[in-house]
Amino acid sequence: MNVSRAGSLRATLEIPADKSISHRALIFNAIADGPATVECILDSEDVRSTARCLESLGVPIDWPEGSPVARVSGQGLHGLFESEEVLDCGNSGTTMRLLTGLLAGHPLLSILTGDASLRSRPMARVIAPLRQMGAHIHARTGDTLAPIVIKGGGLHGAEYQSPVASAQVKSALLLAGLYAEGRTAVTEPLPSRDHTERMLAAMGASVTSDGTTVTIEPAVAPLKPISLRVPGDISSAAPWLVLAACHPDAELLLEGVNVNETRTGLLDILAAMGASIELLEQRQSGGEPVADILVRSSQLRAATVSGGLVPRAIDELPLVAVLGCFARGETIVRDAQELRAKESDRVEAVVDVLSRMGAHITPHPDGFTVHGPMELQAARLDGRGDHRIGMLAAVAGSLAGGETRIENDAVGVSYPAFWEHLAQVAGGGMIRA
Ligand code: S3P
Repeated sequence: MNVSRAGSLRATLEIPADKSISHRALIFNAIADGPATVECILDSEDVRSTARCLESLGVPIDWPEGSPVARVSGQGLHGLFESEEVLDCGNSGTTMRLLTGLLAGHPLLSILTGDASLRSRPMARVIAPLRQMGAHIHARTGDTLAPIVIKGGGLHGAEYQSPVASAQVKSALLLAGLYAEGRTAVTEPLPSRDHTERMLAAMGASVTSDGTTVTIEPAVAPLKPISLRVPGDISSAAPWLVLAACHPDAELLLEGVNVNETRTGLLDILAAMGASIELLEQRQSGGEPVADILVRSSQLRAATVSGGLVPRAIDELPLVAVLGCFARGETIVRDAQELRAKESDRVEAVVDVLSRMGAHITPHPDGFTVHGPMELQAARLDGRGDHRIGMLAAVAGSLAGGETRIENDAVGVSYPAFWEHLAQVAGGGMIRA
């Protein structure tokens, strides 16, 4: 795709559904006691990977191509069948890690794999604690990399201190905990997104949170199916928030965004940098807080992002580097070594993309430093098959002089309508396929 500088930005956009909640709505309803309807589900490659894996495990899911509604026929806590096929999680870490936890609780033989990126991502973080709970799990390279082979069942609860703040690890262990004898408690160094706790509690599971510890009791009763309307994904609002804040003539209204405070780190970062952001029409949807967000052109100042802000903005941190290019001073992201374990090494990828465009950006082991403000220049960019890097490149290209070429953007993983929405936001003239 080719992108050039957008003249003025004026639009109202309905933000696509939350990816994390879409995965969970399918997985948790698969083990509920009856049918559920998930409205406004995200129809993206990652969520389709979850649906296909569940179908292979014997869960009927009626979700026609292009439909925003999925009907899941829950099979009950013990109703999954052994898949005849290897379960292909595609590019999706959430699919692989949550299903590993779920299948550790089932006396079935399961094999999970994914694309080259997913097969290079760390899986010991779920395999090791699930083994402590009694699951038989093996994986490539010393039980660290997919494919993963699971012979589940016979679990006992555990108290686990996770070395990383990761909602995927926490969720995998909570799912396994439903099937264990005795309670399971997961403590994280900092709180991660809490969609699993919210949804499982609404379905009748006994889940409690105390500080950074979440505890689950084994399921003694069936889970109630949960029909819901999935709210918009703040990670998909993020490119527009950053584009508008950096652009000299912008006003965008982003509708229906999930503003769960475990996810709103970027809003806090934007506020600290002086961005003009307003939350309007605050309401509830699908058990989550939702708002419309109005963002306008802003005079930005540099900020430092570290500690508890990092897990609350983990998927948005690459875009903070773009904010840093337009902010006066030194913008620093640290404590974010997890960025190196995502769909690509996002520290290396962000530094590569923005330095090709002339930014003054340096990597650290756990983040990066950007010196701003400066003018970005067009370049040929590689999204590395990582959707967040593809969108970062598109945002940077829309703010740069000249025509930027972006390869391997992979936006279909989380935001299939991204290019259409960019054309809508910027009036269309600045994108060429
Ligand atoms: C996710 C959790 C985060 C996030 C990912 C989705 C989830 O990963 O980066 O995009 O749905 O639980 P970690 O749990 O590895 O931090």
